Amino acid sequence: MPESLPEVAYLFAAVCFIFSLGGLSRHETARRGNLLGIAGITVAVLATLFGGEISGGYPAILVAILVGGAIGIVIASRVQMTAMPQLVAILHSFVGLAAVLVGISNHLLPAHPPLDAERFIHGVEIFVGVFIGGITFTGSIVAFGKLDGRITSKPLMLPGRHVMNLLMLAACLGMGIWYLMTLGGESTWLGTIPLVLMALISFVIGIHLVMAIGGADMPVVVSMLNSYSGWAAAATGFLLKNDLLVITGALVGSSGAILSYIMCAAMNRSFVSVILGGFGSEGGAPISRGGGVSGEPLTWNEVTAAEVAAGLADSKTVVVIPGYGMAVAQAQHPVREISEVLKQRGVRTRFAIHPVAGRLPGHMNVLLAEARVPYDLVLEMDEINGDFPETDMVLVIGANDIVNPSALDDPGSPIFGMPVLEAWKAGQVIILKRSMGSGYSGIDNPLFYKTNSAMLFGDARASVDAILEHLRQAI
Ligand code: TAP
Repeated sequence: MPESLPEVAYLFAAVCFIFSLGGLSRHETARRGNLLGIAGITVAVLATLFGGEISGGYPAILVAILVGGAIGIVIASRVQMTAMPQLVAILHSFVGLAAVLVGISNHLLPAHPPLDAERFIHGVEIFVGVFIGGITFTGSIVAFGKLDGRITSKPLMLPGRHVMNLLMLAACLGMGIWYLMTLGGESTWLGTIPLVLMALISFVIGIHLVMAIGGADMPVVVSMLNSYSGWAAAATGFLLKNDLLVITGALVGSSGAILSYIMCAAMNRSFVSVILGGFGSEGGAPISRGGGVSGEPLTWNEVTAAEVAAGLADSKTVVVIPGYGMAVAQAQHPVREISEVLKQRGVRTRFAIHPVAGRLPGHMNVLLAEARVPYDLVLEMDEINGDFPETDMVLVIGANDIVNPSALDDPGSPIFGMPVLEAWKAGQVIILKRSMGSGYSGIDNPLFYKTNSAMLFGDARASVDAILEHLRQAI
């Protein structure tokens, strides 16, 4: 193989990744973006395997690829769409663990004194790689536990938690100085002590940081850990002297950081306050009939599928707000059919997407695209919020937090300040869910008690099927 071929292959793969990210930013080009990503990573793996960087050990690598690939295929083919965030979180933890292991094993390679600038920089790379990898590893495991419901989504608010974080950071910095001071010595073992101690502290920081973040802010954490995993991979790339890993890690790190910023803007949070935790706890003022905050008893309206179908058929404009429950119930296909039946009747039907609806960025867009809902009917929150006063009926399908008015009018609410879809401004709001239970953030929703709201209880799929059936009979 010509010497420059691996470099050319890496360059090709890097360009594929950049175009892949560009493609993933729009529905219409997302499929092409995915294919480019697959092409890039295939070329990258082949170039790494056969590009002369590996001097031996092919059987071990083959076994690792076969076992890892088989596990990946089984998990990916079994995972429900609703469990994707957990899968992403646990995969981030693998990237973090890999960065820690590569860093420590690189440190254990025989050293060649004396200490020169190159060796010093290499030492810094090892230290930073292990540090970011450690936080990513345990932080992602906690995120997995929270998203999977194995760990409570309530924030862990230890007294003096900020001081604890600062002390742990200072300890890591101290270990870093100690570690760099050992680099000039003959034995690598001297540096192993501060490196491993720092790794253990970074594990605790990762756990503590993510435990302190409440339910509603988990979207930011997922994208933030995505970013960390990218930086951890970039650090690993420096250690392995693999340019493509540096480029790919930097792409993932920066796109994750941009996504975190977008998420924060969507939820009206400052990035620093989310990272330091404390949002998303239980709370908020008590809710009463009519959605106000007083001590009056709570009552709500209920409707049947037939009544909803009749209301839809009589409407001129309808907005559908999908949420996590639509994903759980897999109701997107009959929802699209409802919109088609309504279109035939001359009812203008559109879909409103909240940036954090569901459990992963773009969750609802993916489901609606899968159900072949035309893209021009799918509007972002900012595009549609002004239209609710002119909307006759809103169907809230398995959504809760993203339509909670207390985000705007209850300063005591844990989600106060988060922009929401202002469904209550429409003529009538129908909420499809199974009970009066709360959403991800664990708080009650005054929308359900408003006089222009009505609940259609049941699994969203069964309710949507029943509405569709009645609508068809009405044609
Ligand atoms: P949620 O607030 O979680 O509400 C979903 C509602 O769906 C629940 O109240 C539940 O009520 C209902 N539901 C569940 N299964 C159902 C089924 N089979 N049929 C009918 N209804 C069903 O969802 P949302 O409004 O989409 O808001 C998303 C929340 O998740 C936000 O708090 C957001 O911060 C958080 N989050 C988002 C992300 C991303 S990146 N999107 C990541 C992590 C967390 P019942 O149990 O009564 O049916």
